[in-house]
Amino acid sequence: MQKELLIKSMDYFVGQLDKLMKDMGKTGVPGCQSKDYVYVADGGNDWTDGFFAGEMNLAYEYTGNEKYKLAALKQVEILKDRIEKKFAVDHHDMGFLYSPSCIAAYDLYDNEDAKQAAIMAADNLLLRYREKGQFLQAWGPVDDNPENYRFIIDCLINLPLLYRVSDLTGDTKYKDIAEKHFRTASKYVVREDFSTNHTYYFNIEDGSPIKGVTVQGYADDSMWARGQAWAIYGMALNYRYLKDESIFEIYDGVTKAYIEHLPKDNVPFWDMVFTDGDDQPRDTSSAAIAVCGILEMEKYHPNETFRKKAEEVLESLLTKYTTEKLPYSNGFLTDSMFNRNAGHKPECSTWGDYYVMEAVYRMLNPNWKIYW
Ligand code: GLY
Repeated sequence: MQKELLIKSMDYFVGQLDKLMKDMGKTGVPGCQSKDYVYVADGGNDWTDGFFAGEMNLAYEYTGNEKYKLAALKQVEILKDRIEKKFAVDHHDMGFLYSPSCIAAYDLYDNEDAKQAAIMAADNLLLRYREKGQFLQAWGPVDDNPENYRFIIDCLINLPLLYRVSDLTGDTKYKDIAEKHFRTASKYVVREDFSTNHTYYFNIEDGSPIKGVTVQGYADDSMWARGQAWAIYGMALNYRYLKDESIFEIYDGVTKAYIEHLPKDNVPFWDMVFTDGDDQPRDTSSAAIAVCGILEMEKYHPNETFRKKAEEVLESLLTKYTTEKLPYSNGFLTDSMFNRNAGHKPECSTWGDYYVMEAVYRMLNPNWKIYW
C-alpha cells in the first residue's frame, strides 16, 4: 500500500483531531456519533468515551507534540473520576473505555492515575461475571432478571483490559475470568458457517445455552457487519494473550466469511446480508475494525489473502470515505452506522474514527505497542 496515502491520511486525521479538540474545549468529550457529520460534546456517559483519548495518544506517538499528551492526560483524569464515582459504568464496556485511554497512558507516560483507573475498571467488569454460563453480562443490572442474562460479541474487545490488569497487578483472577468468557463466547457466538451472533442468552437457573438474538443486526441469523468485525479483532486480541493455536481456525473462519460478504468497493453494508444493488447504508467502522484485527493477527498467523484484502479495504476507506469532501466536519470517516434498527443515519462515530487512525498507524509502524 502506498506510503504517501498513509501519511496523507494520518496528517488529515491529526488535523481533524485538532478541530475536534478545539470544538470540545478543555473538558468536553464528543458524543458517540456526530450529527450531520459534526460532533458535539455530550455528558461523558457513553461507552465510546475512551476513543477520544486513544486518538490523542496516537497523535502524540505520530507527531511527538506534547499538547496531545496533556490533552490525553486530561481525559485520564475525567475517566478516573468517572470510575471512582461509578458514573455510567453499569455495563461491560470497560475495555473500550479504559484501554485506549488509560492502559495506553500508563504505557506511554507511566501515569499512575491511569493505571489505577484501569484497575478499578477491570474490578468493575469482574462484577458482571455470571458463573452459571460462565460469561460477562453485557447490559443491565446484574440481578435475577432473565432478560439481562446474556453476553454480546463486542465483549471480546473488553477482555484485553483484564489480561493487562492481571499483568499490572500480578493477580490472575482478571485473566482467569477473561479466559472463561472467551471460551464461552467462542463456543456460542460463532455459528457453523462462521457468521456470528450479536448477543447470546443463557438460562439464568442452570446456565444452559438458549439462543442467539440480534439487537443491531438485520435478523437473528444474519451477519451484523460490526459484530463480525469485533469477532475478527476479538480473536486476534485474545490470541495475543492466550497463545492458544485453536483460535486460528475460528479467526480464519470469521475473517473468510467477512471477506466473502464484502461488496465491490470492499466496505460492508451495515449487515452483510446486503450486497451491491441493495439500497442500504454501509458501516465504515466495521471495515476499520476488521483491518486492525487482520493486522494484529498477521503477527502470529500470517495470511497473504487476508493481508491483501485488508489493504484494499483500508485504501477504499481512505480514498472514498473520509470527511474531506464535506464543508465542515470534525470527524474522520463518513458512513459509520451505529444502530440501523434504532433509526440512526450514516454519521462519523468515535470508534470508527479511532480504529481507522489505528489501522493507518499500524500500517506505518508494524511494531507499534498496541493499547489493547
Ligand atoms: N459496542 C457497541 C457497538 O458496536 O455498537
